[in-house]
Amino acid sequence: MILQNDFKRQWAEIGPAAIDAVERVGASAWYILGKEVDAFEGKLARFWGVSHAVGVANGMDAIEIALRALDLQPGQKVLTTPFSAFATTLAIFRAGGVPVFVDVDDNGNLDLDQCREVLSRERPIRFFVPVHLYGNPLDLEKLAGLRRDFDLVIVEDCAQAIGAKHGGRNVGTVGQAAATSFYPTKNLGALGDGGALLTNDPRTASRARALRNYGQSELYLHDELGLNSRLDELHAAVLSDALLPNLQRWTEARRQTAARYLREIRHHRTIKPSPSAEPVWHLFPIFVEAAERDTVRERLRERGVATGVHYPRVIPEQAAMQLSPGYQVALEPTNARRLAASELSLPVHSFLREGEVQVVITCCSELARRP
Ligand SMILES: Cc1ncc(COP(=O)(O)O)c(C=O)c1O
Repeated sequence: MILQNDFKRQWAEIGPAAIDAVERVGASAWYILGKEVDAFEGKLARFWGVSHAVGVANGMDAIEIALRALDLQPGQKVLTTPFSAFATTLAIFRAGGVPVFVDVDDNGNLDLDQCREVLSRERPIRFFVPVHLYGNPLDLEKLAGLRRDFDLVIVEDCAQAIGAKHGGRNVGTVGQAAATSFYPTKNLGALGDGGALLTNDPRTASRARALRNYGQSELYLHDELGLNSRLDELHAAVLSDALLPNLQRWTEARRQTAARYLREIRHHRTIKPSPSAEPVWHLFPIFVEAAERDTVRERLRERGVATGVHYPRVIPEQAAMQLSPGYQVALEPTNARRLAASELSLPVHSFLREGEVQVVITCCSELARRP
């Protein structure tokens, strides 16, 4: 089977370095918030080109902690996307915010022109959580324009976009903070849960450090009601030694596969990154007829190609939203609904072999001829 993610192949590459890292942490006899987390945060901040990285328990917490560190008050509106992992919205709720949804473009990314319209009309919205979906960066110049014109506080959700650039600029550097995830399927996926918050602002970083650790400013002194959301030493060590050093190469492998798909998959619509974008292809979506998606998936599965659906339902229509403390649909997510009904993710992970990429392409062409 050509998998969506091939963790066995990843382990075959990283096993020895990961085991060395585990042995080092075991021998250190220090497991929480020690020198491994410090060292990894330093490396990640350098990789990202920002001053501070704060390791936390997962990507969802990174968004919540960033919003709280940036002073989101309960009941304040937060502009965001209806088409993402549910965690993006859940983090806004957990931070006390009220999500305000607009629609997405044909790539599934937020439509920033619509955002401008809603921000002009619905003042005052001060907080914004955009997502760089599928690893395809939003237009960072437009995003910076929104920040400037509406005095926004932006937390960029970069869970799927570590290393992506737009106009030569790293994602996550337009907002006051960014969040990323080390969930195993992510481009920098750990051997368990993990996440990080990135920022150039020392105050935001130090508040986030307190918030991740029960709101403690000093041992047993609690200034606010924080979380228990720490990246542990084991994951930090494995990320430092076995994963981060490979990220650039792994990203290149994704880009090569995506370049072939873009060239050779002719009968299905794919996303179209802008010429200024350097995507990292967390996922490779194609769009099929909604009524045929299940059949296409099944045919691909029969030929040994595993697919995913990201995401089958738009966020405002998730059942959990009926139980939520409140949200607003500022613009109907018509495009998001259409994508949710027709998206199919092809395998694009870093460990695909050339022959497998060819199988995926051939299967897609055959299916287009005879669905
Ligand atoms: C866009 C997006 N935001 C947030 C998250 C949450 O990350 P985590 O699973 O580490 O909490 C994810 C991962 O599922 C994601 O894809």
